[in-house]
Amino acid sequence: MLKKLPFNNPVLTASGTFGYGVEMSGVFDLSRLGGIVPKTVTLSPRTGNKPPRTFETASGLLNSIGLDNDGIDDFIKFKLPYLQTTGAKIMVSVAVKSVDECLIFGERLRVTSGIDAIELNVSCPNVSGGVDFASDPKLCEKVVLAFRQVIETPLFVKLSPNFFNISEVAKGAEAGGADGISAVNTCLGLAVDWRKRRPQLGNGFGGLSGPAIKPIALRCVRQIFKAVKIPVIGIGGIATIDDAMEFFVTGASAIQIGTANFYNPATAIQILDDLPNALSKLNAKNITEIVGILEDV
Ligand SMILES: Cc1cc2nc3c(=O)[nH]c(=O)nc-3n(C[C@H](O)[C@H](O)[C@H](O)COP(=O)(O)O)c2cc1C
Repeated sequence: MLKKLPFNNPVLTASGTFGYGVEMSGVFDLSRLGGIVPKTVTLSPRTGNKPPRTFETASGLLNSIGLDNDGIDDFIKFKLPYLQTTGAKIMVSVAVKSVDECLIFGERLRVTSGIDAIELNVSCPNVSGGVDFASDPKLCEKVVLAFRQVIETPLFVKLSPNFFNISEVAKGAEAGGADGISAVNTCLGLAVDWRKRRPQLGNGFGGLSGPAIKPIALRCVRQIFKAVKIPVIGIGGIATIDDAMEFFVTGASAIQIGTANFYNPATAIQILDDLPNALSKLNAKNITEIVGILEDV
């Protein structure tokens, strides 16, 4: 188990909601972030899903981007260099289709400097393949083990709330050698235009994020916190210091801000600024004193 998380502080920005950092340059000093998780990269470029790709719902956002990205080689050559200038820790998010791909991917990242952590996204609901790793504890263990064979960089596995055995899958990731769990990705959903008798998204189903999913994310974090010894990064509907504190006492050792970035890119910084005061309300000086202190009833 990692004694210390490989981030500057416990507040990071979530994959797919903060671009590759460069889009947010000038909004605030990015070095203040605990870390940036850029958009997930795959081995080969992907064009993503048919538009429309986003649709706003009650207290949430439904998206079906479909892992649109230019592939790992482009990422290393054109996106990573800027990210490395920000001063924030960089957790590269990757998605794989097979165990064999892990070996190729791991090798590619191993020889690349300036990567502080890897987040293995086995949980994107908008693509076929890959998501199976988040539904089966044994498969999850296998894919993590494959990465572990080639790379020692701290490895976090991002899980899906769409499978009820999430704590078992987390145990699989831990058994495979993961250093932590990121929970959660989006919840599978559907928005409908009844007049046109069509789904609102070009792809049909999409992934729901934002305040609407916070209770689901908190439930997942609690279950995982109880099931494994490795740290959990909480993700899902976090927009305020109260949301953040809820995740910490539930069992998250760090958090990521996602959808909130779309309407307030400085959310992470505001939460960081509010943190000392909130901690003092629990007579705590740092997060470690409050992680998981939620009473079981
Ligand atoms: C438009 C959009 C794109 C996303 N793309 C990715 C992605 O590429 N990789 C990933 O792991 N998660 C992706 N996510 C999921 C977020 O990182 C996060 O796990 C999820 O949105 C829940 O957090 P939130 O409610 O704070 O947004 C995406 C979310 C949104 C809204």
